[in-house]
Amino acid sequence: MPAPPPDARSQTAQVVAVEPCGDDAILLRVRPADSLSPVRASRFFMLRREDGLSPLIPRPYSVYRDHGGELEFLVKVMGRGSQALAKTRPGEQLRLIGPLGNGWPTLDGDGPPWVMLAGGVGSAPFLMGIQQALAGMDGASACRPDQLWYLFGAATAGLLYDLDAFEATGVNVRTATVDGSHGRTGNVLQLLDELQERGELPREVRLLACGPEPMLEAVEHLARERGLACWLSLETLMGCGVGICNGCPVPTVPDGPLGSWSNAKCCVEGPVFSVEAVTLAGV
Ligand SMILES: Cc1cc2nc3c(=O)[nH]c(=O)nc-3n(C[C@H](O)[C@H](O)[C@H](O)COP(=O)(O)OP(=O)(O)OC[C@H]3O[C@@H](n4cnc5c(N)ncnc54)[C@H](O)[C@@H]3O)c2cc1C
Ligand code: FES
Repeated sequence: MPAPPPDARSQTAQVVAVEPCGDDAILLRVRPADSLSPVRASRFFMLRREDGLSPLIPRPYSVYRDHGGELEFLVKVMGRGSQALAKTRPGEQLRLIGPLGNGWPTLDGDGPPWVMLAGGVGSAPFLMGIQQALAGMDGASACRPDQLWYLFGAATAGLLYDLDAFEATGVNVRTATVDGSHGRTGNVLQLLDELQERGELPREVRLLACGPEPMLEAVEHLARERGLACWLSLETLMGCGVGICNGCPVPTVPDGPLGSWSNAKCCVEGPVFSVEAVTLAGV
C-alpha cells in the first residue's frame, strides 16, 4: 500500500504575508515552526486555520515558492477553505501538513524541449519547476532557458497570475486567453499547435500540464494521439491527503505501470502521474 512520504509532518506555521494576486487569488507566505528540506516542485501541503474559521478538512496547495525557511502558496479564493486562508493576517498561525506527494519528474536538458501547459491557478507548481529545471535536478543535466516553454492559459488576463515572475525566469513564455485580453485568443493547446505549425517548437516535445480537468483530458488525448511523453499534475479533491480516506481516486490505465488496481490514490501516488499510468479521458 502506498504510504505518505517519510518527510511529511504536521506542524504550525506563522503567516508572514498575504498579498492579492490577479483578479481572485492571494500569495500566502508562511514560516513553518520546524525547518524543512528544499521541496520538489509540484509537491503540496494541506493547509487550514486553527481558529475554527476553516472547514475541518484542510485543503491541498502546491508550493509556489520555497524561500528556504518560508513557503509561499498561490491560492485561488473560491469556497470556505480558501476564503478562510485569504482572511489570515501576518502573525496568525496555520496548520501545515506536508510536504506531500511526489512532484514533477526530473526535468533534464538532454531530450526534446519541455513544454509546460498551465491553466489558470494550475500555474502554481510551475514557477519552482522552471527554477529547479534551470538549476539541474537529481544530478541530471540542467535545462537551458531555450529548452523550456511555459504556455500559460486562462479565461482572462486577470487570471494569468503573477505572469511577470514567469517572464523573469528567462524561459520561453507565451500566453493564451479565451477572451483575447492577453496573448493568443483561445487555449493553451491551440497555442501549442500554432507554435508547432510556425516551426518555433518541434513536433516532439515533452509535456507537463496542470489545470482544470477538461484541459488535462485534452492534453492526455493529444499526448496519446501523438505518442508524446506527458505528465499531469492533478488537482483531485482530497480528504486526508495521506492515503487513508480513499477520497482521491484517479482511474489507472489497465495493465499499465501501476498494475492491476483500477484506481490510484492521487495524494500518495501523485499528484503527478504519467499518462502511461493514469487516464482522465478513459482509454
Ligand atoms: C495536489 C493539489 C494541489 C493544489 N494546488 C493548488 C494551488 O496551488 N492553488 C490553488 O488555488 N488550488 C490548488 N488546489 C486546489 C485546491 O485544493 C482547491 O481549490 C481547494 O480545495 C478549494 O477549497 P475551498 O474550500 O476554497 O473550496 P470548496 O468549497 O471546497 O469548493 C468551491 C467550489 O470549487 C469547486 N472545487 C473545489 N476544488 C476543486 C478542484 N480541485 N477542481 C475543481 N473544482 C473544485 C467545488 O466543487 C466548489 O464548487 C490543489 C489541489 C490539489 C489536489
Ligand atoms: S485524500 Fe485521503 S486517500 Fe487521498
